[in-house]
Amino acid sequence: MADLALANPRAPKRPAARRSNFELYSWLFMRISGLALVILVLGHLLIMNVLDGGVHRINFGFVAGRWANPFWQAWDLIMLWLAEIHGANGLRTVINDYARKDGTRFWLQLMLAASVVLILGVGTLVIFTFDPNMS
Ligand code: HEM
Repeated sequence: MADLALANPRAPKRPAARRSNFELYSWLFMRISGLALVILVLGHLLIMNVLDGGVHRINFGFVAGRWANPFWQAWDLIMLWLAEIHGANGLRTVINDYARKDGTRFWLQLMLAASVVLILGVGTLVIFTFDPNMS
């Protein structure tokens, strides 16, 4: 006897595409890092450029004294990472919005990723290996 069972018409032929929440977390990260950057960047700007003699007192000795303190090392490290990832993630969105060809998008995103690795690498290295006694 013929099998009269019908397939469920709503059954997907292919398994549903696996979805990730990456863009949701990326959206949330922009808001949270933006809030932290208000304090970190505006604080940095005030301390380095306005308060207590401002930019005129900044020299090698001033930087050496500052980075002898783990608090300012941590401040600068967090500011570096948050600003870099925030800025790069913003640029990632801009590239996705405006690149018309897949190839253009791919190469721009690759250059952006390379610049992130380079800047975070060199910046982090400097903060941790800065030598105030170099001759
Ligand atoms: C000072 C505190 C900052 C706040 C409150 C802030 C906040 C934000 C927010 C909420 C967005 C998301 C906008 C959207 O999704 O439509 C955004 C995007 C962006 N931010 Fe920031 N940000 C700050 C600092 C920075 C810094 C220091 C950089 C660069 C290193 C930067 C670069 C960008 C870029 C490139 C975008 C993407 C712009 C776009 O989608 O058109 N921001 N920012």
